[in-house]
Amino acid sequence: MCGIIGYTGEGNAVPKMTKGLTVLEYRGYDSVGIAAETEDAIEVVKCKGRITSLEEKLEKHPIEGAHCAIGHTRWATHGGPSDVNAHPHKAGNVVLVHNGIIENYKELKDELSKTGTPFLSETDTEVAAATLNACYRPGSDPVKAIREATAKMKGSYAFGILFVDLPGEIYAIRQGSPLILAKGEDGYYLASDMTALLPFTKTYYPLKEGQIAHLTPDSGTLVAGDGRVFEPQWKKTEMTPESAQKGGYEHFMLKEIYEQPEAIVKSASTRITKDGLPDFSVDGILPDFWKPVKNIQIVACGSAMHAGIVGAKLFEEVAKIPASVYIASEYRYHPPLAVEGTIVIPISQSGETADTLAAMNYAKSKGLPTVAIVNAVETTIAREADHRVYTYAGPEIAVATTKGYCTQVSVLFMMAAAAAHACGRISDDEAKALVQSVVKDAPAAVLSMLEKRDYLRELARGLAGKEHIFYIGRGLDYALSMEAALKLKEISYIHCEAYAAGELKHGTISLIEEGTPVIAISTEKALYDKTESNVREVRSRGAKLILICRADAENPERSADSVIYLPINSLAATLFAAMTAVQTIAYETAYLCGCDIDRPRNLAKSVTVE
Ligand code: G6P
Repeated sequence: MCGIIGYTGEGNAVPKMTKGLTVLEYRGYDSVGIAAETEDAIEVVKCKGRITSLEEKLEKHPIEGAHCAIGHTRWATHGGPSDVNAHPHKAGNVVLVHNGIIENYKELKDELSKTGTPFLSETDTEVAAATLNACYRPGSDPVKAIREATAKMKGSYAFGILFVDLPGEIYAIRQGSPLILAKGEDGYYLASDMTALLPFTKTYYPLKEGQIAHLTPDSGTLVAGDGRVFEPQWKKTEMTPESAQKGGYEHFMLKEIYEQPEAIVKSASTRITKDGLPDFSVDGILPDFWKPVKNIQIVACGSAMHAGIVGAKLFEEVAKIPASVYIASEYRYHPPLAVEGTIVIPISQSGETADTLAAMNYAKSKGLPTVAIVNAVETTIAREADHRVYTYAGPEIAVATTKGYCTQVSVLFMMAAAAAHACGRISDDEAKALVQSVVKDAPAAVLSMLEKRDYLRELARGLAGKEHIFYIGRGLDYALSMEAALKLKEISYIHCEAYAAGELKHGTISLIEEGTPVIAISTEKALYDKTESNVREVRSRGAKLILICRADAENPERSADSVIYLPINSLAATLFAAMTAVQTIAYETAYLCGCDIDRPRNLAKSVTVE
């Protein structure tokens, strides 16, 4: 986590820092700071809080005439959120910002303390700054010093570095944490993510591990591990500045929910042959790829893991390939047995989640082929997987994912269909029907649910202010319930649990009392009666019941206080409509609770620490 930005050039550096950091806030938002070079010194301004707190500070003490600066927005790991722990950190001739964790910072700190180095903060970053400072003397080679210092560090890092005696120059290096360079008309940039730089330029280069970037007002060069200096191969992004703005919506989350129909089409439409069959050859995955696959292990975190659970069920039901889902942070330490023909599918919106990356690397070290499903292009997981399948959801800014999750599910739908068809387990017509259900029915179903937003808001009134809420469902609906509960609790702070509908009676039903809200999801016709029995069990114990069910369910009003009807033209239609309903309920509930929807407390969107 944490967002980094840097700029050197002819322009005014400070407003660029605050503008870029505002976009990067999704990476962490408990403290913020900049270091800007003026004629006489490097001025550091930092504080606990959001960019607005920094802007207030800068209004009182403006920094004039800075053309080179670095900035940082933090998600605290070592040392709580405070002014002193905020980045940038200065040690002697070095000022730096950092994203990642220096795991051996205690040893490094002890060593430096012995030689009298003072430390002001509790952070590992200040130790990194001091380590680099110990390797550098004004006039000596900064690249050599950076190599020497980073060689002593264990862990992950992306650093943006200023040296006091080298005005106008920024150095950068990364390991495990993302960093991109960019070239604008008025200078050179550095950022954790291209979205922060869209107001300034579209030309970028994702820094590779082992490379050191050296930016000056009129050059951006790389230094390879062997000392070779060369120009990056600049690329152009297709993202627009608008894609990282709210576009008239009150929150990014709402905007992103409304973007889902288009995102589903984008994610699916590049994976269809002209005959309408599912086809991932654009991702380098030909039909033959699936034939020897005997087992699928999906690794992911949070919502991506929940999408994986839906995917695993689809792989098993549609393609008849055994599939399991593993929480990425567990996978490496308790690895499952891998039979011959096992492939691993890491799923990650950001493409940078440290746990998912570590799980994927573990799988690779065991010789297992990896097919990563990723949204953010050119990110570490995408680059390092054997195959990458982009979800094309576009930038997702709200911390609570919606369109990211939605497109992961749509890609998994298509992938299960492709695997099933390639292995001869479904006919051409069945495969075509599945594809159509994703590209046509699913987007329409999302839209039809959004038309019911007023009704969903009314239902949210009965949830806002409650202490506990339960989601229940069976099969795919249990998978969706997990995501629904996560969505609700992460942004409204109401305790919400998902239960397999049949499991609640084995203990947790004791928590149901008069008025406890229970939301039951029932999208599968064959399971409706069973789920309805569970609905009756909780209702007879006082639960206030919202039932999300198929439009053809028989008389659902008799078992629920409120009913949300779902379209029934295909499994995809029903599922994506239910998904939209639970996302909107979470949004409206958090709204009524007055929560900071796009920036929920304690969270960060991209979690680049283990
Ligand atoms: C964080 C976010 C979650 C997200 C998870 C995995 O915890 O807050 O919303 O699902 O990371 O992120 P990824 O980028 O790998 O999908």
